[in-house]
Amino acid sequence: MGNLIAKIVSTGAYLPEKILSNKDLESMVDTSDEWITTRTGIKTRHIAESTQSTSDLGVLAAKKALERSGLKKEEIQAIIVATITPDMLFPSTACFIQKKLGLMHIPCMDISAACTGYIYALILASQLIKSSAFKNILVIAAEKMSAITDWQDRSTCVRFGDGAGAAVVSSQRGDMEIGEFFIGADARFTDILNIPAGGSFCPATEDTVKKRLHYIKMTGQEVFKNAVRYMYESAEKVLKKSGLRVEEIDCLLPHQANIRIISAVAKRLNIKEENIYLNVQKCGNMSAASSSVGLDSILSEKKDVKNILMVAFGAGLTYGALILKRINREK
Ligand code: COA
Repeated sequence: MGNLIAKIVSTGAYLPEKILSNKDLESMVDTSDEWITTRTGIKTRHIAESTQSTSDLGVLAAKKALERSGLKKEEIQAIIVATITPDMLFPSTACFIQKKLGLMHIPCMDISAACTGYIYALILASQLIKSSAFKNILVIAAEKMSAITDWQDRSTCVRFGDGAGAAVVSSQRGDMEIGEFFIGADARFTDILNIPAGGSFCPATEDTVKKRLHYIKMTGQEVFKNAVRYMYESAEKVLKKSGLRVEEIDCLLPHQANIRIISAVAKRLNIKEENIYLNVQKCGNMSAASSSVGLDSILSEKKDVKNILMVAFGAGLTYGALILKRINREK
């Protein structure tokens, strides 16, 4: 029991077809392709249909991961979903996904850790597996950020996109071990990135809607400073814990908020540019789904990748880092 290893068996991702470019945004708010590109690195983002909810995006990613896992549906024993754009405040988005996938009677839960959500969810899944409570868990990070974005606020609306990624985590199969991790949160900063209304603190009223308080609010510069600091510190801590040198990391998978944040963190870590995974240019910031979509591309495209360092920060502020290590292929 103490020797169980939690591994990623397979992954999948889904990006909505519709693409919103910086040029498109120029006709919606007072902005420019030049401003968006230089400040964020983003060129395009995917936007879900109005009829698609977060669980629909998650299901499409999960189906691919399940198909590639070679496992039977009945072998999945739990669903964990990282999201800040749940279909409803309750029930959990994981429950909607259970219904749509026909995975009846297994436990379902959501994790709200914003952009760090996928790291939190993978760690939770790995610990449940290592405890031998479960053998196979479906982990999903799905976000419909377009639903909580204020399309009249140029400081936020240019940043976000929709998407979903999923992984099957198992003690039975797989060759990518979920290794050392570090997670934390600094709740002194709950007010620099949030949606003020619609929860129990400030229930939705006509007035909150009129004041657009049900959309993302952000103090960009404060977020920037803390993002760099906490991503760097998390990565340093997890490297130390793992005993890996930075040269042994052949892929850095950072949260894709902003290319400037990623460059600042990579520079402080001394990681070579060619070893940094990026999807922010094409997908924008998909919150927790940035890492899940990213991990799917890395594992599908870079078959020889050995050590992946995931690192993220998000509203809360939450932060964390996780090492994924290639182990000898089994069975
Ligand atoms: N197009 C054009 N101008 C814009 C704009 C846009 N889309 N969004 C903001 N601006 C303007 C602001 O209104 C401001 O104008 P003003 O000086 O006339 O008031 C100006 O650009 C500068 O914006 P500001 O936010 O003060 O700072 P900055 O130049 O230092 O840029 C950010 C910093 C915003 C780019 C940076 O803070 C950032 O990217 N932070 C991280 C945010 C993030 O990644 N959040 C996601 C977290 S998961």
